[in-house]
Amino acid sequence: MEESGKISLELCFGTTCFVMGASKLQEIESYIPPQYKNKVEVKANTCLDLCKNATYMKAPFVKVDGEIISEATVEKVIKAIERKIDG
Ligand code: FES
Repeated sequence: MEESGKISLELCFGTTCFVMGASKLQEIESYIPPQYKNKVEVKANTCLDLCKNATYMKAPFVKVDGEIISEATVEKVIKAIERKIDG
């Protein structure tokens, strides 16, 4: 949890993640349910350094409050946000 009390959502737009589908996550903010919007802090990264350790096929990566989501899709990320906020 951020100091602001918000959940951090770290997107990766590095080459590996972008090629593997992160481009689809660019609009993710518009999919965040309105009741969660002001509870989420969205940051974009150039590389989360996860593509180097994990297998290439697991990209794109997103971190939700430090939790790594591999093969991230809008649906997976929204679910993770809901889990973090609602427990
Ligand atoms: S490009 Fe996304 S983790 Fe490296």
